[in-house]
Amino acid sequence: ELPMTVRTLSEAMGRPANQIIGTLMKQGVMVRINDALTEELALEVAMELGVELEIKRERDLEDELAAMLSDEYDEGAELEPRPCIVTILGHVDHGKTTMVDKLRSASVAAGEAGGITQHIAAYQVDHGDHRITFVDTPGHAAFGEMRARGANVTDIVVLVVAADDGVMPQTEECISHAKAAGVPIIVALNKMDLEGIDDQKILQQLATRELLPSEWGGDTEVIRTSGETGAGLDELLDTINITSELQELQTNPDRDAVGVCLEAFRDEGRGVISWLIVQKGTLEVGDVILCGSAHGRIRSMFDEHDNEIEAAGPSTPVKVTGLDKVPETGSHFFVLDEIEEAREVAEKRGHTGRSAYLAATARRPQTLEDILD
Ligand code: GTP
Ligand code: MG
Repeated sequence: ELPMTVRTLSEAMGRPANQIIGTLMKQGVMVRINDALTEELALEVAMELGVELEIKRERDLEDELAAMLSDEYDEGAELEPRPCIVTILGHVDHGKTTMVDKLRSASVAAGEAGGITQHIAAYQVDHGDHRITFVDTPGHAAFGEMRARGANVTDIVVLVVAADDGVMPQTEECISHAKAAGVPIIVALNKMDLEGIDDQKILQQLATRELLPSEWGGDTEVIRTSGETGAGLDELLDTINITSELQELQTNPDRDAVGVCLEAFRDEGRGVISWLIVQKGTLEVGDVILCGSAHGRIRSMFDEHDNEIEAAGPSTPVKVTGLDKVPETGSHFFVLDEIEEAREVAEKRGHTGRSAYLAATARRPQTLEDILD
């Protein structure tokens, strides 16, 4: 960006440069025709010469995007309750997938259950008056990845701890992630159907990690569950509802959507498929979106059962097609008015290496140290 000079100001005001130089000289400022001027000086000269001068800055789209994420953006808007977004974390083999499958099969038709795609990043379960969105990240690494990008979508973490194994290294990492993200942790003490479980020992382990169980007077809810038999899962859902009610989760559904990309890949037939979760607003087929350094117009949209849908409100996970390339996991998406705007930012990000930097941090295996750096 070029600075304003006496020459460009003279052209803009339609006054000879000498007049500007003379005016400034009277104020004790000595300048030549190619010298740069501050905005302040330019405005003073204009006032002195009786010219109305408006200084326009180049639009900074990145600033406008950041503003779309802020609370101020929705000031005065009518806010509505939104589903709670729950991420399930825990040590390998402690039963996360079995638990989410069980939760899910309880809420979908039996006939449907068999045909569901293997790799699901997020889905919704209705319980009581509430709809709950579960985010099934491939593990704590993905959770950390999103946090590293400032794209934390999680309202509550359910920490799965197998009762026969107890708190393990990855359990501890998950606790750190959740604490750093500042979200409430509900512990699912899992595999309670196994013989010879010493649950007191595990409560003790939790207590020493600053997760004092409520039954011991602390404020961490520990729910005894079995993903295998389904025992305790109703109580787990109840506890999620109570916890989310305290958070008073609400947002503006009537605005251009923003959210986060959970996962994306290239499909032979359909092109780029992106799992997005809407945070604010309503995402619609035909919307122009920017996501990381990818952009495009949403061609089609699918819900978690692969049903084609037209629109998706807050906290809803959707699969969309139409992006020009695979967006970075954990990057924010934005709905914009013009495809040219989206292209401009996407290209800029691609060139300046901003997204290259983000992609590089994402590809690096995430450890606790990375996150706390
Ligand atoms: P990763 O995705 O590899 O981290 O594992 P996970 O946490 O998703 O565990 P997964 O659900 O795959 O379960 C691991 C093993 O534990 C499987 O053999 C399950 O059958 C078994 N398992 C899961 N939940 C329970 C449970 O509640 N009781 C018993 N007895 N076994 C369980
Ligand atoms: Mg699993």
